[in-house]
Amino acid sequence: MGSGIAEVCARAGYVTIVREIEDALLAKGRGRIEKSMATAVERGKLADAERASALGRLSGTTKLEDLAQCDLVIEAATENPEIKRRTFAELDQVCPPHTILASNTSSIPIIQMATSTKRPDKVLGMHFMNPVPVMRLIEYVRTLTTSDETLETARTFGESLGKRIIVSKDRAGFIVNFLLIPYLTEAVRMLEQGFASKEDIDVGMMLGTSYPMGPFTLLDYVGLDTTLYIADILFDEFKESRFAAPTLLRQMVAAGYLGRKTGRGFYDYSAGEQPPSAR
Ligand code: CAA
Repeated sequence: MGSGIAEVCARAGYVTIVREIEDALLAKGRGRIEKSMATAVERGKLADAERASALGRLSGTTKLEDLAQCDLVIEAATENPEIKRRTFAELDQVCPPHTILASNTSSIPIIQMATSTKRPDKVLGMHFMNPVPVMRLIEYVRTLTTSDETLETARTFGESLGKRIIVSKDRAGFIVNFLLIPYLTEAVRMLEQGFASKEDIDVGMMLGTSYPMGPFTLLDYVGLDTTLYIADILFDEFKESRFAAPTLLRQMVAAGYLGRKTGRGFYDYSAGEQPPSAR
């Protein structure tokens, strides 16, 4: 997510600094951005000359202090509340008072990060969708303490990236995952109960409702671990059975079948299996 966010910022003309925890991860992210920009040029979404200037606006560091000149910082660290709270507290020390601090979390309440700083009025959620360069939405999360001015400045910034902005209150799942996660886990329950094959469920949703990917293809794309993590957060907050993660999902995560990133999820990509196509 971090590389996608950095890419869209640089492509929109912003001087963009990426902070990673080690050089190897910086190099990996840079490689991902270069590959994505090459695809964008191939598809006619980005002029070749613009690619060079966008890459010129991007730099990397492992030092948080190098963010001292930034007007906006978007945190996309691992989904660990403690790491996020610590990062926000450190950013609060490093950045000037006007800097807006945003989190790309898909599930952790933003107020937890806001209250780790002395500027809770300047903290909000900016939840991008995967793949960031292609998906047109950013879901903003406004806490009880986010000011109107912060929201409006962030909105102007998000729109300048070419994205549509929606605003949610600070509640687990926000808007998109509150609806998406029960849909995905219901598909797993359907499969678990032997009601239909994964291929038929996927084709059903692609051809029956024009979703670009069926639920199992999307689960493999998003990551089974990420989906389980968000489902558990939703269940913890609302204690409703519709948010309870199915056993099959939990066992697949325990087995390391996390989706595309491990070569196997509901489909076994390492064995050459591919999800059904919509065509
Ligand atoms: N930069 C800019 N544009 C790009 C690009 C890049 N790097 N790569 C591709 N594109 C463009 C293509 O040119 C194409 O544009 P047109 O439609 O104008 O021709 C478009 O993006 C689609 O690209 P492809 O043809 O290569 O791919 P596709 O048609 O197979 O679609 C997909 C791929 C966009 C991933 C599509 O399958 C899709 O939308 N899937 C669903 C994704 C989704 O639901 N994401 C949200 C996940 S939930 C989440 O993120 C939240 C969370 O917290 C879990």
